[in-house]
Amino acid sequence: MKPIKKRARASAPGKVILFGEHFVVYGKPAILASIDKRVYVDVVARSDDRVTIKSNMGFKGTFSKHDLENVKEKKFRSLVQPVLAAANDAMQEFDSSTGLDLSIRAEFPHAVGLGSSASISIATIAAVGSLFGKLSKQKICDMSLDAERIVHNNPSGADSAICTYGGLMLFDKSSGASPMNSKIDMHLIVVDSGVKRITGKLVSGVKKLRESNAELFEGLATMSSSITSQARKAIKNKDYAELGSLMTLNHSLLRRLGVSRNVLDKLVDIALKNGALGAKMTGAGGGGCIIALVNESSRKKILREMKNYDAFVSKVEHKGVIVEN
Ligand code: PMV
Repeated sequence: MKPIKKRARASAPGKVILFGEHFVVYGKPAILASIDKRVYVDVVARSDDRVTIKSNMGFKGTFSKHDLENVKEKKFRSLVQPVLAAANDAMQEFDSSTGLDLSIRAEFPHAVGLGSSASISIATIAAVGSLFGKLSKQKICDMSLDAERIVHNNPSGADSAICTYGGLMLFDKSSGASPMNSKIDMHLIVVDSGVKRITGKLVSGVKKLRESNAELFEGLATMSSSITSQARKAIKNKDYAELGSLMTLNHSLLRRLGVSRNVLDKLVDIALKNGALGAKMTGAGGGGCIIALVNESSRKKILREMKNYDAFVSKVEHKGVIVEN
């Protein structure tokens, strides 16, 4: 099929995991929120079959039709692979092999647990798909999970769901995504430790722990489910103090799981000492970001204390993937 328009733009939000990371891979529930920073993908159809990528995230390149067709087998640098896989899937959906110029701009860093690979693949699928027709959110989400499978080790699907639908969401592998229609006014400070990490490696580490010490893993998994269930109630009741203390408890659990590291523990301590209602690492760990639940009075103080790190305040973003033109 030939494109019905020459250019398109789509965007998708980044995300944080408030509760339940890692255990969500094994069927336990998680609570996620999208943040008010997005990835934008602009695409222009070419007259040949080349695909060019440029980005503000340190990757770029020109790729052949053969690269696209072998995207699963070939090793590409970091985020190139999900972008090519996403573009290829979207084109296959419309029986096309048109060349593309893709231009990617992210408002948040990658490889720090903010869902960059999911939001990049979602925005790419939505932008490329819209050159040919319309893809439903469900379809975009499913297709991005295929791209995520290439990059990560057994993804739960939580990142794809939150970056597609946006908002505040309960997710588990068997029931999928359930929006939490809370009017809660959460202000989070997201602090990047500056340490990059690879989600797949951390997920493999947890798998090994589960195999070597099933009893410990099951105990922690049960605790994680219970914290997540209490957090649902705290969100429903808009009980910020309870929500904060559950986040801090969740951080201790993740430390015991072995996925935190000193710099994350230090950042959590700084946030708590300066008035955060709660704080935890978010996502796979091993580096990446922490999140702190803050109120008006502690917000400025914590941001000041974090001045040596990249830190920003985010509310829950309600818009998921958007095709912008
Ligand atoms: O995208 P990250 O790095 O925040 O980690 C994904 C969350 C995990 O629970 C660790 C893995 C998964 O697939 O859900």
